[in-house]
Amino acid sequence: MSVAHYYETMEYGPALEADGEARAWLKRHGAVFGHFIGGKFVAPHSGKHLTTIEPATGKTLARIAQGSAADVEAAVSAARTAQPLWVKLGGHGRARHLYALARMLQRHARLFAVLEAIDNGKPIRETRDLDVPLAVRHFLYHAGWAQLQEREFADQVPIGVIGQIIPWNFPLLMLAWKIAPALAAGNTVVLKPAEFTSLTALLFAELSAEAGLPPGALNVLTGDGATGALLVENPRVDKIAFTGSTEVGRLIRQSTAGSGKSLTLELGGKSPFIVFDDADIDGAVEGVVDAIWLNQGQVCCAGSRLLLQEGIADTFRKRLIRRMETLRVGMPLDKAIDMGAVVAPVQLERIKSLVETGVREGAEKYQAPAAIPAEGCFYPPTLLWNVHPSSTVAIEEIFGPVLVAMTFRTPDEAVLLANNTRYGLAASVWSETIGLALDIAPKLLAGVVWVNATNLFDASVGFGGYRESGFGREGGREGMYEYLKPKAWSGRKARAMALPPPAPTADSLGFGMPPIDRTAKLFVGGKQVRPDGNYARAVLSPKGKHLGEVGEGNRKDIRNAVAAARSAEAWSKATAHNRAQVLYYVAENLSARSDEFAARIAAMTGATIAKAKAEVSASIARLFSYGAWADKYEGIVHTPPLRGVALAMHEPIGVVGVGCPDEAPLLALVSLVAPLIAMGNRVVAVPSESHPLAATDFYQVLETSDVPAGVVNIVTGRRDGLVKVLAEHDDVDALWVFGSKEASAAAEKLSTGNLKRTLVDHGFMMDWYDNLASEGPILLRHAVQVKNIWIPYGD
Ligand code: NAI
Repeated sequence: MSVAHYYETMEYGPALEADGEARAWLKRHGAVFGHFIGGKFVAPHSGKHLTTIEPATGKTLARIAQGSAADVEAAVSAARTAQPLWVKLGGHGRARHLYALARMLQRHARLFAVLEAIDNGKPIRETRDLDVPLAVRHFLYHAGWAQLQEREFADQVPIGVIGQIIPWNFPLLMLAWKIAPALAAGNTVVLKPAEFTSLTALLFAELSAEAGLPPGALNVLTGDGATGALLVENPRVDKIAFTGSTEVGRLIRQSTAGSGKSLTLELGGKSPFIVFDDADIDGAVEGVVDAIWLNQGQVCCAGSRLLLQEGIADTFRKRLIRRMETLRVGMPLDKAIDMGAVVAPVQLERIKSLVETGVREGAEKYQAPAAIPAEGCFYPPTLLWNVHPSSTVAIEEIFGPVLVAMTFRTPDEAVLLANNTRYGLAASVWSETIGLALDIAPKLLAGVVWVNATNLFDASVGFGGYRESGFGREGGREGMYEYLKPKAWSGRKARAMALPPPAPTADSLGFGMPPIDRTAKLFVGGKQVRPDGNYARAVLSPKGKHLGEVGEGNRKDIRNAVAAARSAEAWSKATAHNRAQVLYYVAENLSARSDEFAARIAAMTGATIAKAKAEVSASIARLFSYGAWADKYEGIVHTPPLRGVALAMHEPIGVVGVGCPDEAPLLALVSLVAPLIAMGNRVVAVPSESHPLAATDFYQVLETSDVPAGVVNIVTGRRDGLVKVLAEHDDVDALWVFGSKEASAAAEKLSTGNLKRTLVDHGFMMDWYDNLASEGPILLRHAVQVKNIWIPYGD
């Protein structure tokens, strides 16, 4: 073929990246790999291996070890041994190692890019320009946190040994997102890559040892889901960090419940891509290409739901289809392709079957006419048009190159449609009117919002989901906190078992002065209401004296309280200044009734009047404190490497259930409720079961302090039973449980339905008087979720 011919036709020919070095690395290992434990490759105990294929050809690429319980134990032991030494290195020492890992990645960038493309099937253009550079950036950025750790995280300590389980869509990048912050913070790691794509993790481990990373700091354990489950169950692992499907995320939440392990979950998504009629249409079309055809659509934050304002829908469709005609699908190592192969035959079948379902349910299908290689796992870029919001393909994560489109009329309708999903990972908003875009962004229930952009990532900007997209953040300062725990909580003691019931006294047998009969009601939606079951429970003093009665709340009462909290949404939108004023006012009114509260606490708990007065004073101070924090615990502006900013906003989580312990019945209640409402959450609180009268007195204070109806609801009764109802309730977004070990376990286990964020004490006693342990950011961090709004600027 002559040059003139190419000049005439302007056709691309294949431009393959050389793969010699990657193939030589495989050959050097005989294409068979063990686990990487304690700084070297070791054969699996069982001798079993799995085959990993090359998605673009279907040919066998290598065999990787299948991890058994004995292998998990060996990897965890290596990490345990290394951890205290790794801590001892200090922030600067760890910073140097992380910096060395970044430099090692840079030196071998081409090898990593090629091996990733071969193993995963994604285009070399992406591995070279996105996966590898972002991984490098992650190590460099976190080298910085390690360096600054002793100063910036002085009140925190590392968690210990971290089990990390990652998926196949961004194997090297997910490795970097997981291990860089964990190692920076002083933890050691056992990483389990996905069974389809373990090779870059094994290469990374090998080269990190060559770069001087101490043995045991990073261990790579390969195998399938069964190996992952063994790692999750290992009692010597202190935290699990998982990225993958929501289904497996749920299983992990259940199996870690009550174990004391920390957990972060980065799960699926069905992210909206909203285009208003004043958007730059060509820019938005190009955005769609990136949103859904990057990595063959196998991206957790893929903009897979296209929402178009009605007036531009037709024009947009035409231009999008025209653009689809130019997309090229081909071999991953071809530098001139837009899309490569999907990861495995099972994934290809899943995509095909979901598209068929979409068409059966009424969608019109357009597919790019791109030539598709005959062998291997290829699927063309696909658009499903006129999709009904209730159609399967509008609801389920397809995890393939398939875009579903629907239209809206008004901005409000766009928000409703965008939020009409159980997920909440990311969203894109396209409009040339900055006021409109920035009005919509806070209304979207998603952890990341891109304005006139999509798929922007940086190590300094946290990434993670709302709702069933999981909890926890990767990147940024908030990402570091996921690998640290408060120093002030380290010495907590297990709470003593409940005391036996008091021996009867003359009073309790009815021979004392009769109290003025009064049954404290529940407090729901700003009103004192009788419990649904019309039962009451007696409140006794430690000596058995009958002090009064409180309502025995049940499932229905919790449901009503949650509904009341749900409808108090205006509180979440109130200004921080407003919320601060209300908190100060509550403090003022509590102060006016100090003596009465002190007498009540002394009677209920048997504390001296002086001690009870101290509890009331501490409660007033705490309310003041959260009045102060309400307008000061703010987000920050990130300046990632692009022309633009990312605003890290602190947003309330929503409706939060709170279970309170028995000690310090007023102070603990205030310490848990105040940070939540200061940040704009609405609360359903179950007060101390033994000493509930401080809480029922407290709602009289709330009633007179301008706290809007439904912001704080109080349901008395059997605490652990009511906490379970809150855990199972799908309209509760988060749950804080302080009390028994069993209640903590139940809260974690039963909250998997809608994947609530949980904060539990596992039965360890808090010192509610210690400001460092129980006031301020230590709890405020759990009262917000961070949304990052990316705003690029320029033309
Ligand atoms: P998966 O969630 O099964 O796999 C992710 C990782 O978890 C892999 O390392 C796997 O070995 C491990 N794993 C599997 N079962 C486990 C268990 N019981 N305990 C511990 N670890 C376990 O995802 P899979 O099957 O590869 O993909 C299925 C679907 O999940 C995709 O079609 C997609 O919808 C979604 N997905 C979402 C991802 C995301 O980034 N959010 C990434 C990968 C998949």
